[in-house]
Amino acid sequence: MKALVVGSGGREHALAWKLLQSPKVSEVVCIPGNGGTAALPRCRNVGMGVNDFEGIARFALVNNFPLVVVGPEQPLADGIADFLQQQGLKVFGPTQTGAQIEASKAWSKALMAQAGIPTAQSEVFTNAASALAFVQHQGFPIVVKVDGLAAGKGVTVAHSLDEATAAIEAAFSGKFGAAGERVVIEEFLIGQEASVLAVTDGQTLRLLLPAQDHKTIGEGDTGPNTGGMGAYAPTPIVTPDLMERVQREILEPALQAVKDQGIDYRGVLYAGLMITPEGDPKVVEFNCRFGDPEIQAILPLLETPLADLMLACVEGRLESFPPLEWKPGAAACVVAAAEGYPDTHRKGMAISGLDAAEETGALVFHAGTRKLKGETIADGGRVLGITGVGDSFEGAIANAYAAAACISYDGMYYRRDIGHRVKAR
Ligand code: AMP
Ligand code: GLY
Repeated sequence: MKALVVGSGGREHALAWKLLQSPKVSEVVCIPGNGGTAALPRCRNVGMGVNDFEGIARFALVNNFPLVVVGPEQPLADGIADFLQQQGLKVFGPTQTGAQIEASKAWSKALMAQAGIPTAQSEVFTNAASALAFVQHQGFPIVVKVDGLAAGKGVTVAHSLDEATAAIEAAFSGKFGAAGERVVIEEFLIGQEASVLAVTDGQTLRLLLPAQDHKTIGEGDTGPNTGGMGAYAPTPIVTPDLMERVQREILEPALQAVKDQGIDYRGVLYAGLMITPEGDPKVVEFNCRFGDPEIQAILPLLETPLADLMLACVEGRLESFPPLEWKPGAAACVVAAAEGYPDTHRKGMAISGLDAAEETGALVFHAGTRKLKGETIADGGRVLGITGVGDSFEGAIANAYAAAACISYDGMYYRRDIGHRVKAR
């Protein structure tokens, strides 16, 4: 079987790599892929945009790729799954209405309220005046969120009335386009964040190993938020009891609420959680795709063939699918970024030491790279995800850092404290 992966990040490199380990899979094509997927055996890149739905459909049909796996949220929110399904293709990823669980925070909040899912108290506003009037009477911090997808720039934790005012004015300024037509203002939750991802065929859920992500750029979890600077799995903070509660109190009611709206949701349902100091899970957000870099730490531990699991989801056979099998031990992913990230960052630097890094036994997933005349060139804010696997967290983290030390490019930056919470336990 051949499989098509849509996207160009570390998540898509990890997906392509794992799909190729499934005995069923003979070939993977990435659209558009990156320098890492270009170098994988039995994998190649095809240079099309992720929003070229017609081009992707034509390629899959003409070349007989029955399974299309969609990595990022934007094409899902734009209806790629609906379009490809209408052409008779099997798509791992929800339809446009299902993708609203991530693409509209107001929609997602309404769904959670209807389903009784624990989350921050919130209000939705459609103009700046009413939002500004509301925050006059609130305590701080408070969280101001643009309703739609904003490439990670739509959420502000405001510590004062001035910060909240600035965030509301920015949200309604027009710079977010249609994503900024509504704003959600919500209670600030305290605790530790964790990511519990499940795959679903629209009826049944299978939970993946729980992960944690380091969101901020700076060591000690400081500085501005990024797409994620490192991740590890299975995080011990989400105990088996807590997993059970997340399934029962959050994921199952969410899927039921989605079903009740007539949505046939096939793909990933990702709960971004805050584990409160009392030990209760509350939803910070839902996502409609795999977390990145979380999946770069989760997939290396998966023993079950990924292609079989995804086919069971798209074909509606998950209930009879065998239990997922996992390697014992742990995995940790260290993200190497470009100088300047998460703001304007450098591009075009030649990367050296990739082979030596892999010789340590670590996996080097490319996030923002391309191939140029045989060289690998940095081409994104997050450049690489370097994943170590070990019997323990200490071993996995040490492996990732030993591999990172082999790699260099001008302005290479990575946090030195990935996994500090689990190492300290
Ligand atoms: P979101 O896009 O909704 O996940 O928000 C991005 C990040 O902002 C989250 O990962 C949290 O670190 C932070 N955040 C969002 N909502 C809240 C909240 N209600 N309380 C505390 N932190 C939040
Ligand atoms: N690492 C967070 C996310 O994928 O949204």
